[in-house]
Amino acid sequence: MHIAVLAGDGIGQEIMVEAVRVLDALNLPDLRLDHADVGGVAYKNHGHPLPPATLDLAKTADAVLFGAVGDPDCDNLDRHLRPEQAVLGLRKEMQTFANLRPAKAFAGLENLSALKPDIAGAIDLLILRELTGDIYFGEKGQRKTDAGLREGYDVMAYDEEEIARIAHVAFKAAQSRRKKLCSVDKANVLQTSVLWREVVNEVASDYPDVELSHMYVDNAAMQLVRNPGQFDVMLTGNIFGDILSDQASMCVGSIGLLASASVGTGTKGLFEPIHGSAPDIAGQGIANPSAMILSAAMMLRHSFGMESEAVRIEQAVATVLQQGILGHDLGGSASTQEIGDAVVAQLAS
Ligand code: NAD
Ligand code: IPM
Ligand code: MN
Repeated sequence: MHIAVLAGDGIGQEIMVEAVRVLDALNLPDLRLDHADVGGVAYKNHGHPLPPATLDLAKTADAVLFGAVGDPDCDNLDRHLRPEQAVLGLRKEMQTFANLRPAKAFAGLENLSALKPDIAGAIDLLILRELTGDIYFGEKGQRKTDAGLREGYDVMAYDEEEIARIAHVAFKAAQSRRKKLCSVDKANVLQTSVLWREVVNEVASDYPDVELSHMYVDNAAMQLVRNPGQFDVMLTGNIFGDILSDQASMCVGSIGLLASASVGTGTKGLFEPIHGSAPDIAGQGIANPSAMILSAAMMLRHSFGMESEAVRIEQAVATVLQQGILGHDLGGSASTQEIGDAVVAQLAS
């Protein structure tokens, strides 16, 4: 089990310490962790947010555990040197086109949600976000208009193969869950979405057991807080999934709770919390490490077939929350390390 550990910037460093402690606590045989710089810290140390040695390590390892990137000091760098380009580059290079972002209410902890408890308690959904296309990767730049005005542009585009392969992943995920798939788009305005809807409908014929619906993204954002329990799998393009998953996190309770798996066709993947480097709280030891720890659980499940170990970690995190050991993001006062301690203690019990 060769794992590339890329902690990155800000709270990425702090939460990764706890995820590694949790992995160590499982006493897995053959566990090999190799650390490397990524993001702003890599730019500072090596002149590039995704140095060749880091990319090599990510490519040769069996899985990548990724913290977060982003550093206010780097906000004015050219786009190709910004820390965020490291995670975008890794996703593209590793061809992890499918990003699984599960959001599930923790039993007995509905009151942590920003929603009314009876609405929050029904949340059990999976956002299946396309990760290597869309407006993120289309042509972009700045130019002058004919009138001499500065103009910025980013091209949104998906080809039918990109849509079909993520749709297949989404239908299969729905088959293993409650067999409901809601595809989210903006087909009333965007030509990209018109094709998206067409191709998703075509792929649907391979999955007659899955109930498919389509929803415009603005309505989806509203329905996610009105009645999130209606959703099983939500299939989205890259940018809509980015936005809706941050929203879903607050429906559960905190962005510090939501893990993700970025995967392609094989077992290899990039496992990353959905949140960022949180510069506003970095260095204070108060970040919630749960999303990072749960990302390690997703890694064990997906890359190493270790379902029971993954479930053990997930149950330990849930138990710690139920014990009322809450970080500041959830209105408590437990530190990053105290939450890590509590999860490790649960695993030992
Ligand atoms: P963010 O997710 O870093 O933070 C948003 C808010 O949530 C902040 O108030 C932060 O303190 C809080 N928060 C986030 N994670 C938390 C945790 N684990 N525990 C407690 N509180 C937490 O988003 P942002 O502020 O918009 O972006 C900050 C930087 O992170 C930017 O440079 C951005 O580009 C980057 N970013 C990186 C990733 C990634 O590496 N995958 C994801 C999102 C944002
Ligand atoms: C995420 C982040 C990234 C994204 C940024 C940092 C490029 O917001 O993983 O959700 O937009 O995909
Ligand atoms: Mn995001």
